[in-house]
Amino acid sequence: MSELLLDAQNLVKRYGSVEALRGASFQARAGEVTALIGDNGAGKSTLVKCLSGAEQPTSGSILLDGSEVVLDSPTTARRMGIETVYQDLAVAPELDPAANLFLGREIHRKGILGKLGMLDKKEMKRQAVEEFQRLGVTLQSTDVPIGSLSGGQRQSVAVARSVVWASKVVFMDEPTAALGVVQRERVLDVIKKVRDKGIAVVLISHNMPEVLSVADRIEVLRLGKRVARFTGADTKLEDLVAAMTGALVQEEAA
Ligand SMILES: Nc1ncnc2c1ncn2[C@@H]1O[C@H](COP(=O)(O)OP(=O)(O)OP(=O)(O)O)[C@@H](O)[C@H]1O
Ligand SMILES: [Mg+2]
Repeated sequence: MSELLLDAQNLVKRYGSVEALRGASFQARAGEVTALIGDNGAGKSTLVKCLSGAEQPTSGSILLDGSEVVLDSPTTARRMGIETVYQDLAVAPELDPAANLFLGREIHRKGILGKLGMLDKKEMKRQAVEEFQRLGVTLQSTDVPIGSLSGGQRQSVAVARSVVWASKVVFMDEPTAALGVVQRERVLDVIKKVRDKGIAVVLISHNMPEVLSVADRIEVLRLGKRVARFTGADTKLEDLVAAMTGALVQEEAA
């Protein structure tokens, strides 16, 4: 069994009177794809936000590599090796794809110019083009602001950015939702490559065939709680649907 990297226990998240998470637990292992599934509103995006520092859980604990961590911001999470592709894409629309790839981790010019904050745009561009090629991201031009790319292209850039920087965990909240058939296959290939590097990949998807084809494990959220867990290989679509709709509940001691 692979190493348990991320272990979230009993997370509660309240937004005023709305309880988005009601004691949700979640685990992800190194070198595996864990799919997080559930109906609309089940709490998947909220869970990802709590596990990537974008939101603070109201209560509960998060262990990374066996130690309890406080993810007080996305920057803290990224420093710990956790990258995220958010469902509501967090790219900077006015910047070009290379600048987006290096957002928050810009390469500075050598010497005094770098100390004065001058960026090495040429080097960032070169590395970005190399990474996009490696990951099969096709863009007609890398010189345009990302806001002028198609939704699918933006999503591909966001996926590329997350996998380039992730060292432990990468969350992908519906990374293929806006993609065409070819781009979707590419993203699934990227997911497998990243998993094979020993990173824990967490995939949120409503596409069950996709989940069954790529996931090593599947965790099901319903009404803010984990209700079932499956291993990818011997799971049937009916089981997943039953768990998502509440017909099947595997009680679990949290
Ligand atoms: N910022 C917020 N303020 C108030 N309520 C929120 C907020 N974010 C999420 N919620 C509520 O929490 C619940 C879970 O939402 P969440 O976005 O986590 O669901 P989801 O499983 O990602 O759904 P989907 O599959 O539609 O993306 C929903 O009832 C939602 O309305
Ligand atoms: Mg969501």
